[in-house]
Amino acid sequence: MEKLARASAVAFQEEPQYRAPAQPTTQHPSELLPRTRLAYRTPYGAAYSGDSVDLLSKLKAKSVNLVVTSPPYALHFKKAYGNVEKDEYVKWFEPFAEQIFRVLADDGSFVLNIGGSYNAGRPTRSLYHFRLLLMLCDKIGFHLAQECFWFNPARLPSPAEWVTVRRIRVKDSVEYVWWFSKTEHPKANNRNVLVEYSDDMKRLIARGYRAKDRPSGYKITHKFQRNLGGSIPANVIQYGLPGIEGAEEASNWLVRGNNESNSIYIRRCAEMGQKVHPARFPAALPEFFIRLLSTEEDVVVDPFAGSNTTGSVADGLRRRWLSFELDPAYVENSELRFEEAAHSAG
Ligand SMILES: C[S@@+](CC[C@H](N)C(=O)[O-])C[C@H]1O[C@@H](n2cnc3c(N)ncnc32)[C@H](O)[C@@H]1O
Repeated sequence: MEKLARASAVAFQEEPQYRAPAQPTTQHPSELLPRTRLAYRTPYGAAYSGDSVDLLSKLKAKSVNLVVTSPPYALHFKKAYGNVEKDEYVKWFEPFAEQIFRVLADDGSFVLNIGGSYNAGRPTRSLYHFRLLLMLCDKIGFHLAQECFWFNPARLPSPAEWVTVRRIRVKDSVEYVWWFSKTEHPKANNRNVLVEYSDDMKRLIARGYRAKDRPSGYKITHKFQRNLGGSIPANVIQYGLPGIEGAEEASNWLVRGNNESNSIYIRRCAEMGQKVHPARFPAALPEFFIRLLSTEEDVVVDPFAGSNTTGSVADGLRRRWLSFELDPAYVENSELRFEEAAHSAG
């Protein structure tokens, strides 16, 4: 268990504070949306209630460095926040995609978290998200920089009919996190997301390694012995490690147990008698990509902001941020994340 706890610690120097201690030296991001009513702001960001196609269309071309988002998925049942049907999904998403492409800087990235789903009433998977990916690349012009995954072992086994009743399918525990870029060389630096070395690697660095060829033909040289501050993480983002079997072996996965931003939000919603957003992603997800793909004071946008997890993480990492959310109640509740720092637009 001790080993497990150590494996879960990441090499990131510090947790994001979710409180912006300083003012950005560049223009406030709300100036990118002049004459538009904002819901609330912090020194680093601004939240807006409205349709993100409209709001994105007000931004200047190439004014955004990074978009991190999770749109409503095309589920075959309607969630409280509204979903479009699978067949219409790609068409529905196209105007958002056109705007995202337009507002991104040439070295900007678009990170899209999307879940797969079953065809209604059948034990086969829908292809809607793959069709979306093809549309984004073939029609809009994005490059697929890398496919990443969010491993969420806490997801319930569903659909019950196939998984728990007839037992003919297994539990679905990953969601896609596609990293698109406008050009082939987006701004990115994996040194900003290193994970702590495994115990074996630490021993190897301390004791040294005899250079030799591996059976695979791969040459392990003395360079492997250099301490570069941590391991390069894999493209799987896992949240909520403790107690997960096999986690020790998965030492190269990015594992973030601490989800402080979301827990403050949940606690404050409970205290205020407000409903928490039903489809939040873990703070680790935007945190990983914000660190990997942007630098301080860059502009990060979430056009399907929900409870504004992205904005709160961006705030803590001193990125300027804009969040757009259709449902005014979600926008209002998301301010609870920033209570101490936010200045209501009132
Ligand atoms: C999956 S949730 C995002 C949750 C968010 N990642 C979080 O951590 O809280 C998708 C959100 O998109 C919002 N949405 C749907 N259509 C929208 C639109 N046209 N413009 C802005 N937001 C929209 C929904 O109201 C919903 O809150």
